[in-house]
Amino acid sequence: MSQVNELASAVSEVLIDEETLHGRIAELGAQIADDYRGEDLLLIGVLKGAIFFMADLMRSIDIPCEVDFMAISSYGAGIDSSGVVRILKDLDVSIEGRNVLVVEDIIDSGLTLSYLLRNLEAREPASLEVCALLTKPERRENDVSCRYVGFEIPNRFVIGYGLDFAERYRNLPFVGVLRDELAAQAEDTV
Ligand code: IMP
Ligand code: MG
Repeated sequence: MSQVNELASAVSEVLIDEETLHGRIAELGAQIADDYRGEDLLLIGVLKGAIFFMADLMRSIDIPCEVDFMAISSYGAGIDSSGVVRILKDLDVSIEGRNVLVVEDIIDSGLTLSYLLRNLEAREPASLEVCALLTKPERRENDVSCRYVGFEIPNRFVIGYGLDFAERYRNLPFVGVLRDELAAQAEDTV
């Protein structure tokens, strides 16, 4: 079995294929470049899920911009966010007075992002906006405002293109739905 097939067997359905991802990300990049043209822009990626999205998005933004990363973690290893967030890696630079755009892989309950935004707001950036590749509107518990959204998806657990299940499957080139049998195993461990 090739590596891609072995990986892909964790997926019950391809939700967003590579071509669709890249097309939409190019649109988001063009929109961001228009909105920030002539201004300072600092992209903040949330590790690890946003790495592929950040790399493709940043290449499609044709104005000067900078990038930094934060790593945060919800407690617990299951598939549900607990809302309790730890900063594992903080920013290298000060964001005071800067235009900050947080680049996220997915907004599920919104708990992680609302914590992060409160934390960043306290550092007094000139502006603070969010660009998320995916959102699950059905699941939203916290009303976080997200200026740029790639795709709204149904309430399914998805993997690939940076998104993990127990740290695996980030390297699938598309976004797919995790097979029910694997999702059920995760629920047993919560
Ligand atoms: P929230 O706090 O519930 O919004 O969860 C946000 C974080 O949970 C994301 O940044 C992801 O790391 C993870 N997450 C939420 N839904 C999924 C999913 O469907 N697949 C993979 N990771 C997910
Ligand atoms: Mg994750």
